[in-house]
Amino acid sequence: MSSKTENILEVKDLEINFKTYSGDVQAIRKVNFDLKQGETLAIVGESGSGKSVTVRTIMRLLANNADVKGGEILFNGEDLLKKTEKEMQGIRGKDIAMIFQDPMTSLNPVMKIGKQIAEPIIIHQNKSKKEAYERAEELLTLVGIPNASERMNQYPHQFSGGQRQRIVIAIALACNPRILIADEPTTALDVTIQAQILELMKELQEKIDTSIIFITHDLGVVANVADRVAVMYAGKIVEYGDVDEIFFNPQHPYTWGLIGSMPTLDTKGKLVSIPGTPPDLLDPPKGDAFALRSDYAMEIDYEAEPPMFKVSDTHSAATWLLHPDAPKVEAPAEIQRRYKIYDSLKAGIIPEGYNAGAPKVSLDENTEVVTAQDTEGVIATDNMEGDDSIG
Ligand SMILES: Nc1ncnc2c1ncn2[C@@H]1O[C@H](COP(=O)(O)OP(=O)(O)OP(=O)(O)O)[C@@H](O)[C@H]1O
Ligand SMILES: [Mg+2]
Repeated sequence: MSSKTENILEVKDLEINFKTYSGDVQAIRKVNFDLKQGETLAIVGESGSGKSVTVRTIMRLLANNADVKGGEILFNGEDLLKKTEKEMQGIRGKDIAMIFQDPMTSLNPVMKIGKQIAEPIIIHQNKSKKEAYERAEELLTLVGIPNASERMNQYPHQFSGGQRQRIVIAIALACNPRILIADEPTTALDVTIQAQILELMKELQEKIDTSIIFITHDLGVVANVADRVAVMYAGKIVEYGDVDEIFFNPQHPYTWGLIGSMPTLDTKGKLVSIPGTPPDLLDPPKGDAFALRSDYAMEIDYEAEPPMFKVSDTHSAATWLLHPDAPKVEAPAEIQRRYKIYDSLKAGIIPEGYNAGAPKVSLDENTEVVTAQDTEGVIATDNMEGDDSIG
């Protein structure tokens, strides 16, 4: 983690409205986060929470009715919001690349794959056609497409969905971007292919040392890929922290809900979701936007917006429950189970069931690995397999 301290991107107080006939949609309401060199930051949240708008703003690929009300996006110390379209064209694809949800829409159906990968290399890296095609073939091989030299001459429809997403990743990586933004890059794919694509991204990140912003509405997929997690709700980040802090010490009732709706071995087949729907962003509620859906809402939640309360140096959450005067509430049983795991992690004990599928912790030689019997009374052992599905 020590190398991951330098900020490569800083988003400050970002506010985006969309002009519509019914009024202004307040899609992004003061979002703040940073991205460190070489890390993967996951942004999670339900549909409509503002994940795509946030990253499209970084790429400056917003719809015409978007109105940037305020904020800064600092990349290399310069505000991307102040760049001209021409300057952005030099940054997009070269310094910051993006992978979209549906690979078919980002590939040109009538252009051969080889050319689609080689083109950005020719444009952004000033390479000859020959060099660019050689690099394109290397990239195809790197993302796991066999017979790359033959397949360079094929069209997108001649590839499977998973292969097309690999090709999109190859194009995104063509210029060794400093930042790779992946907006739900796997949702259109089946679960095994999803896992392969995530694995691929992780491997490539190690090779290229790029920083990744990974977007998903499914908290379950982030444990394996993310270093840090930002949870978005109704145009705001309501909680962020290191991946262990979000999975095992979550503080915001919305994060509790997201964790509760993650499929586990027990809930296989059943899909649990958070009751209710997100608020209308044409007229966002005054206090905590999640209050109406929360079993833990207090009077103040309907009156005033909670600030970000600091939980640790790396972890904050915007919930009045963290106010020193707030009554102590009992978190759901699953969350309490996780708090116990967190306590033992902090004490240097790795509980059984906390395995490679679960978020990583740094192990040093003093770390004790214990069995379920040893932790009796500390950790509920009845459902430890459930952790396998976290990842
Ligand atoms: N061009 C637009 N005009 C009006 N409203 C918009 C426009 N684009 C986005 N929005 C609104 O902004 C909000 C955030 O949308 P966004 O696409 O960022 O959601 P998301 O978190 O990416 O959701 P999903 O998981 O479904 O992709 C939504 O309420 C959406 O309706
Ligand atoms: Mg989206």
